[in-house]
Amino acid sequence: MSDNQASLTAGGNTIDMPVKSGTIGPDVIDIRKLYGQTGMFTYDPGFTSTASCDSALTYIDGDEGVLLHRGYPIGQLAEHSSFMEVSYLLLNGELPSQKELSDFSRTITRHTMLHEQLATFYRGFRRDAHPMAIMCGVVGALSAFYHDSTDISDPQHRKISSHRLIAKMPTIAAMAYKYSVGQPFVYPDNKLSYTGNFLKMTFGVPAEEYEVVPAVEKAMDRIFTLHADHEQNASTSTVRLAGSSGANPFACIAAGIACLWGPAHGGANEAALNMLKEIGTPDKIQHYIDRAKDKNDPFRLMGFGHRVYKNYDPRATVMQSTVREVFAALNVQDPLFETALRLEEIALSDPYFAEKKLFPNVDFYSGIILSAIGFPTTMFTVLFALARTVGWVAQWNEMISDPGQKIGRPRQLYTGPTARDYVPLSER
Ligand code: SDX
Repeated sequence: MSDNQASLTAGGNTIDMPVKSGTIGPDVIDIRKLYGQTGMFTYDPGFTSTASCDSALTYIDGDEGVLLHRGYPIGQLAEHSSFMEVSYLLLNGELPSQKELSDFSRTITRHTMLHEQLATFYRGFRRDAHPMAIMCGVVGALSAFYHDSTDISDPQHRKISSHRLIAKMPTIAAMAYKYSVGQPFVYPDNKLSYTGNFLKMTFGVPAEEYEVVPAVEKAMDRIFTLHADHEQNASTSTVRLAGSSGANPFACIAAGIACLWGPAHGGANEAALNMLKEIGTPDKIQHYIDRAKDKNDPFRLMGFGHRVYKNYDPRATVMQSTVREVFAALNVQDPLFETALRLEEIALSDPYFAEKKLFPNVDFYSGIILSAIGFPTTMFTVLFALARTVGWVAQWNEMISDPGQKIGRPRQLYTGPTARDYVPLSER
């Protein structure tokens, strides 16, 4: 990395701060000594111009619509790789050999079962509980069952809990779905692939054989790959911040799930399909476009816009082509896909969206595919969390194994009252 300097004049004096360069992407100004030298903080609500860490996992060029995982473009990974292989890549930094991939997949497969007592835990929820509420609760409770792997200073513990989280998320997700529809839980089947196992646990029933449809398995696996990791997004930053205090990995991932649930983040896939259902037919689109542009209307086009992408989200491109594959494989049609295509066409030809560089993001088309496969909208963010767990775990490991790691503790611009004396109740 090549370092140079940036000068800042503040409070009547000028200070020099080092500028650091990564392998690609914007340089950063190292402001760690700013408060000590000027008595001032930087101010960046929403962290629009703030790099919170070094990371070698994922790189996004928002202007070019580029997404790399350990240097490999998402389009190539989506076409040639698998979720297990991408998981290995994110965790270990290199694509695995055949033996490494087989060993990794076998390890993950052998951790797919949940402690049987957790089935009782599910029964404490209402049947109509949102599956994300169940996932938040169950993942947070895992440290009560797997406390033999929560010493984060022990690399072996970090490895086992990482594998447990990646392996058990499909089981937890499938059980949340089964519980919501009143069907019995289906145990993992170790003969199946990671994604095939998830599909069987979700849609299989004890009363009959379940055959995994290869085209659906491939599409689902690709959707997991598209959601695996995405730099320092809100939920990943939540996991890092929780992990910086030394909290156990299960609690950190539960925090990430809670953050992902928001409609501005991972909850957008559920919100986008609900929006398409509300729009209904293409003739209603312009009314919603007008609402999205109206400053006095809080309505936004769900599945559109992104903090980093000011170009087409490369994941949305793959997602759109996957819709066609799944429709062909399942011989289904959904008029909402035509509505979505038309909505995209109209929005992208509107100066408002062009000027603000608002393009479809990963959430815009995913709901249409997931719906065609048979998932209810309430499961969409659960699937996002299932896939993003490998990214959260990889980012958490990267942070925890950094010897310079310290607890995250931002400051603030205080706008409250200055010091004043207490007034007794009798005098108020
Ligand atoms: C994900 O960070 C990640 O990497 C996230 C993610 C991942 O993989 O982890 O990619 C996953 O969360 C994708 C985003 C899913 N969310 C949505 O689709 C919800 C709808 N989109 C937005 O609410 C919004 O675009 C955000 C939250 C995604 C980004 O918000 P920013 O960066 O804070 O941008 P902004 O809110 O400041 O918007 C800039 C302008 C505003 O207008 P002005 O105030 O400048 O006049 O664009 C407008 C916004 O009003 N705008 C939209 C819009 N998104 C932004 N107007 C209409 N519809 C939209 N969707």
